[in-house]
This record gives sequence, structure tokens and C-alpha cells, in this order.
Amino acid sequence: MAKKISIAIDGPAGAGKSTIARRLAKELGYYYVDTGAIYRTVAYFFDLWGVAPKDIDGITRYIDELTIGIEYDEDGVQHMIMNGMDVTDDIRTPDISQKASLVSAHAVVRDMLLDMQRDVAKEHDVIMDGRDIGTVVLPKATVKIFLTASPEVRARRRCDELLAKGQKAKYEQVLADIQKRDYQDTHREVAPLKMCRDSVKVDTSDMDIEQVIAHIKDIIEKKVSK
Ligand code: DC
Repeated sequence: MAKKISIAIDGPAGAGKSTIARRLAKELGYYYVDTGAIYRTVAYFFDLWGVAPKDIDGITRYIDELTIGIEYDEDGVQHMIMNGMDVTDDIRTPDISQKASLVSAHAVVRDMLLDMQRDVAKEHDVIMDGRDIGTVVLPKATVKIFLTASPEVRARRRCDELLAKGQKAKYEQVLADIQKRDYQDTHREVAPLKMCRDSVKVDTSDMDIEQVIAHIKDIIEKKVSK
């Protein structure tokens, strides 16, 4: 079997990873794996069970009750299946964003999800986005991108996204949430968000989506055609 191509896109919350990765995957014909959605599903599960995201004893006790499935619909949209239930829409709330950031700090959670993420990349050409894809999940990825933007720009984009979905959003609150998550995601002990030495940094603060896509596509094509 030919070696699969893997594109790792890491970066902080609201940098545009999923929008960019989804579009690129469609254009290049690769699978798109949104790993944040997997951590969100874990957070949602424990939320339903009434286990606090910092309660490591509760998490360790009940984690075996959780089964996670990833399915793709005909439009290539990733659906998260939690114990047989499609929770794709339920996991997209500011509360679950925050809980996912906390729950993802536990080694027991990260260990459980590692093989699942690697298995997809063994079978398919993938674009995978998250926080530790280039550093831990796929350290030998074909291309590694570190996608970032200033906290203010990311908060503005996230705010617009929430408002467009009919959810309530206040810029100051969204900015505070993003800064809190940035801190948690970069300061945890296990697999913190950090840029690897072999990733290409793309700061999207002054770029629109089309510019970012063209730029990253260029980086990928140069590497893949070698
Ligand atoms: O990408 P996202 O905002 O949907 O991710 C939600 C949280 O999940 C994020 O704050 C940290 C965690 N996460 C992680 O620890 N590792 C990943 N590869 C992806 C997400």
C-alpha cells in the first residue's frame, strides 16, 4: 500500500483551522479529520453524566462507558457519534468548548483517542486539525502547518460565527474565553499546543479565507510533488 499523505494543521482556538482544513480536504480529495470534535464529544459525554471536566477520578471510572464513532455524510461533513447517538450539533457550544479544553488535559483521555486518530491516517490521505497533530499524533506528517491569528481577530471571527448560527455572543466574553482556552491548551502537561520545529507558521490575521487556502495549497503542492 502506498504511503499515505498527511497534512497536520495545528493552532489555537478560532484560527480558522476547521474552515480551512475542510475546504482544502475537499479540493485535494483527502479525508478531513477535526480532532477538536472528538475531544468535544468526550466533554459532552461527561457533561451528560454529571462528571466535572477536572474530576480525574470520575473520568477514569466512566471512560470505558464511552464509545466514539466518526462518520462522514455525502457532503464530506464529519459527524460525531457518541454511544450510537449523533451529537455533531450538540458539541458546538461555548460551554462544551471550555469543557473540552479541560477534559483534553488528562492523559487517560488523550491515550484513548490516539490510535483512533492514527488509524484514519493509516488508511486515508488526511488533513487533520487540532493542537498536537504535528507534535504527537502524526509526527511524521507530510506537511505541518501552524495556523494562528491574533486573539482579537480570532474572537471577532468566532463571535460572527456564533451569531450567524443564531447563538448569543458578546465580543468581550468570546475574547476572554479564547484567552482562557489558549492558556489551558498551551500550559497543560500532556501534549500541549506548541509549534514544532518543522511546521510552517501561517498567521491569518490579515488574510481572508481564499488567501489562506491558496497559500497553504501552495505549501502542500510543493511538498507533495517532490
Ligand atoms: O479545535 P476545537 O476548538 O474544537 O477543540 C476543542 C478543545 O479540544 C481545545 O480547546 C483543546 C482540545 N483539543 C486538544 O487538546 N487536542 C486536539 N488535537 C484538538 C482539540
